[in-house]
Amino acid sequence: MLAVSWIVVSFAAAALAVRPLPPYIKPCARSDPKFNDCTLQHGNEAIPYIVKGDSSYDITNVDPMAIKVIDVKNGPKQAGLHLTLRDVKLHGLRTAVLLKSDFNFKKRHFSHDFSIPLLKLLGKYTISGRLLLLPIHGNGDINVTMVNNIVTYSYDWVLEQKGEYKHLLLKDPVAVIKPSKAYIHLSNLFDGDRFMGERLNEIINDNWQDLFRDMAPKIAHEIAVVISSIVNNIAKDVPYDVIFPERLP
Ligand SMILES: *[C@@H]1O[C@H](CO)[C@@H](O)[C@H](O)[C@H]1NC(C)=O
Repeated sequence: MLAVSWIVVSFAAAALAVRPLPPYIKPCARSDPKFNDCTLQHGNEAIPYIVKGDSSYDITNVDPMAIKVIDVKNGPKQAGLHLTLRDVKLHGLRTAVLLKSDFNFKKRHFSHDFSIPLLKLLGKYTISGRLLLLPIHGNGDINVTMVNNIVTYSYDWVLEQKGEYKHLLLKDPVAVIKPSKAYIHLSNLFDGDRFMGERLNEIINDNWQDLFRDMAPKIAHEIAVVISSIVNNIAKDVPYDVIFPERLP
């Protein structure tokens, strides 16, 4: 109790150095026996606000989320596939629902499972090489629509002392994305040859796992980096004991 009121008093004194949580993120007390349930509820309440961005906490809008490049290389050079995506926008993080949170304070390891019903990745692509033994080339617009996604996100963290306060810093975020199905469409394959292009798109979709398998870790990595940077941007201003107070005031 004392520590909490001391922090509150210190806010007033050092308003610029340390800040409270944004109003849309409600803290959960570490001493709460239902801590994980509390974080599920408060996490889900906060998601719609967080995805919109909040410049006062250096949080950028992440729906859509911009991805500069996704580079996928697969197999030996001769028979392999090279797919590059550029100027990508990932739409749909606003539909994320936190399903499960596991905060292990002893091991300093947290993990979260999200359900994201619909993710659409739109951008430009170039492709060359072979896919399912068929020669393929083209460049144009790509649409990867992923449905019923489960995204698992986990990370380690450390505490950094900054002045009087300890601040959380996430490290080594890892994300895995598993859709029940991804619909992939590449426009303008084979220099715009309609027949060949449509045929190849059908083959790609009948075997969507083949192409998606190599893309998934890169998409998941981008999501992991974005989530961590959101948390780190909040945590650099808001002390650890304010984000995860021992007790609520
Ligand atoms: C992307 O593909 C999905 C699924 O096929 C489709 O519903 C959607 O309209 C497409 N979006 C664009 C911008 O092409």
